[in-house]
Amino acid sequence: MATVQLQSVVKRYGGAPVVDTVSLSVRDGEFLTLLGPSGCGKTTCLRMIAGFVTPDAGSVHIGGEDVTRVPAYRRDTGMVFQQYALFPHLTVAQNLAFGLRVRKLRANEIKARVAEALERVRLGDYAGRYPEQLSGGQKQRVALARALVINPRVLLLDEPLGALDQQLREELQAEIKRIQREVGITTIFVTHDQAEAVSLSDRIVVMRAGGISQIGSPQTLYDRPANRYVASFIGKINLLEVRASGAVAPGASGAGLVPVSTPDGLRHWDAAFDHARAPSAGEPLLLALRPERIQLAANLPNRIEGRVELATYAGDGWYLDVATGGDTRLLVKTSGRAAPSAGEHVTLGWHGEDAVLLRDEVAA
Ligand SMILES: Nc1ncnc2c1ncn2[C@@H]1O[C@H](COP(=O)(O)OP(=O)(O)OP(=O)(O)O)[C@@H](O)[C@H]1O
Ligand SMILES: [Mg+2]
Repeated sequence: MATVQLQSVVKRYGGAPVVDTVSLSVRDGEFLTLLGPSGCGKTTCLRMIAGFVTPDAGSVHIGGEDVTRVPAYRRDTGMVFQQYALFPHLTVAQNLAFGLRVRKLRANEIKARVAEALERVRLGDYAGRYPEQLSGGQKQRVALARALVINPRVLLLDEPLGALDQQLREELQAEIKRIQREVGITTIFVTHDQAEAVSLSDRIVVMRAGGISQIGSPQTLYDRPANRYVASFIGKINLLEVRASGAVAPGASGAGLVPVSTPDGLRHWDAAFDHARAPSAGEPLLLALRPERIQLAANLPNRIEGRVELATYAGDGWYLDVATGGDTRLLVKTSGRAAPSAGEHVTLGWHGEDAVLLRDEVAA
């Protein structure tokens, strides 16, 4: 097991950097996910950790050791790729044994470790099959077993479930999580699927255009996004234009609360802010509010009236699309069976602590 560090890592392919001064520290035994849209540099980061790509600047440490110049085969990492990279002419057992043969282990030890790894991914009966005789999910289990059989210090998974359908994806997510807990291995997982990242990870690194937008637990990213990009990337959210309209007051839960008003000056609310970046009076801001934090209640400190435009059933409740004057709309998630129907007037309310103030950075 080991920690992994990237320190001010830069990678260029000719032009502008595709990974631009990324620093990141993965804890021993942690499940960390690199999340971001296509082309943002996730695979490049993973390959720099594995040693398949050499950074132009910065350093990579595994288990406290500087491995920036250490070749991939001596870094002791196990990797699984999006596309099944199994050897087609070798059986499942031979695929697993390959890395152990290279390491010159004795035949009986190879046999025992291959059997153990196949049991771990519940494919004990498939040792003699060839890759073409396996389903997509089974192939990825074999790829996972092959990455683990060498007892690597770090497990690197590059969109390993990308080619699978949704149900199989969810099954294998649970499987990966179970195995990671059992083995206790430091794991870096790459995906562009936010739901997958949220369900698997201890912490998520949200990447954007070669850089890091925010690092935090799924809960932190959801409840306290640092910017519009992270807020919109993870889950559904309402973003309202407001201005800071006064001094900072201590909130009920200890969070900082600041009074804000809408640009037309008609609505006055309060909202939470990050202490490190307290807004100044008059500053234009975005108020970020999750649909499920809004209640159909007239007795909360922050309120707005509106008319339900659309009610959509969501199994565990309803999504309400509420027009609140001008071209402002709020998405509300209710729980329970009953909900107002389209056309009804409603009063929406929320707690200031549940509304997060963001600076409206320039959209990229
Ligand atoms: N070998 C290479 N030569 C030139 N450009 C490359 C190379 N590898 C990656 N790039 C570029 O670097 C950028 C980041 O690529 P990377 O594969 O890290 O993205 P990603 O986040 O993994 O995307 P995806 O979700 O599509 O896999 C892209 O613009 C890509 O075109
Ligand atoms: Mg990739």
